[in-house]
Amino acid sequence: MDSSEPKHQRRVRYKGTHPKTFRAKYKELQPERYKETIDKIIKKGNTPAGMHRSICVDEIMNFLDIKSGQIGFDATLGYGGHSQEMLKRLNNNGHLYAVDKDPIEMRKTQERLNNLGYDSRILTVENIDFSDIDIVCAVSGKFNFVLADLGVSSMQIDNPERGFSYKIDGPLDLRMNPKQGIPAYQRLRSMNSEEIEGMLIENADEPYAREIAEEITQHYQNGNEITTTTQLRNIIEKALDFIPKSTKSDDIKKSCQRTFQAIRIDINHEFHSLFDFLEKLPEVLAENGKVAILSFHSGEDRLVKKAFKQGYKEGIYKVISPEPIRPSMEEQSSNSRARSAKLRWAIRN
Ligand SMILES: C[S@@+](CC[C@H](N)C(=O)[O-])C[C@H]1O[C@@H](n2cnc3c(N)ncnc32)[C@H](O)[C@@H]1O
Repeated sequence: MDSSEPKHQRRVRYKGTHPKTFRAKYKELQPERYKETIDKIIKKGNTPAGMHRSICVDEIMNFLDIKSGQIGFDATLGYGGHSQEMLKRLNNNGHLYAVDKDPIEMRKTQERLNNLGYDSRILTVENIDFSDIDIVCAVSGKFNFVLADLGVSSMQIDNPERGFSYKIDGPLDLRMNPKQGIPAYQRLRSMNSEEIEGMLIENADEPYAREIAEEITQHYQNGNEITTTTQLRNIIEKALDFIPKSTKSDDIKKSCQRTFQAIRIDINHEFHSLFDFLEKLPEVLAENGKVAILSFHSGEDRLVKKAFKQGYKEGIYKVISPEPIRPSMEEQSSNSRARSAKLRWAIRN
């Protein structure tokens, strides 16, 4: 090389201006102060950190047709988007009982709603499982409207400390209520290969259930532990290494999603809760009371469909949704989390 040529200087890597960690997303976590940033993120089709975008709001509100003075139950408070719409329609008269299993997000949402003027005169928030709807009903009286928006919120998924996402490193926990039950890493450790395989098939229709279950148990047999989301993701990648290159990355992504979903359902006893809730609905709905349920995977939708059909046959419900309602194409393209949503409803006789 000609010594007169300037020596190549390594460019300092641009670190970017966007915060990379959840905690560092300070602007998104203070939506009141950074409205413009939040609007930009939503416009791009993403969900800002610390927020949840409610799905099928118009479809649900049109169906529930809430009247001032009514009594309602929001089974899944989350970020409170649906609750806020319900409260608006109650127009300072009536009462909304809203519950959530997650004490962490529930408190923040309760505070936000209280700050909007929805206090204990119109809103009661409780940290319980929605399968205890009958306990609430014993105090409130029968409900004119009930909504359940199943699954987890964006705030839960995006928080690495909760361990809900394979995309961010964190403890493999996945509990909606971290004070109840055992974290996913303990549960997984206690299962044998067959049980893990069954869980992956039953809770998420995972096509590579056997390969993943065997890799997990092999990992334990080699004296290793799985305590983080990244460790589990690496194991799934290893189990699916045989997949041809052309589809490998996409297949691994889908299997990671399904595996985390299956474990989440197991850890939080989601099917049990939904089953009990569906069984109790006829007792807690007032005459002409309306119920709407948003589900996000086939296992949930099957349970809802079966319960409503059975109730209709027995004359408990006078009308049920003939087909599941899907979010509009516009909503699906602007919010990826809406793509798998199915809404079913029923009206009590
Ligand atoms: C999809 S989010 C609800 C979002 C909410 N509709 C909104 O507009 O912001 C689901 C919420 O339900 C809660 N959840 C899930 N299963 C539950 C159960 N069995 N009992 C009570 N809450 C539950 C989760 O903790 C989560 O906060």
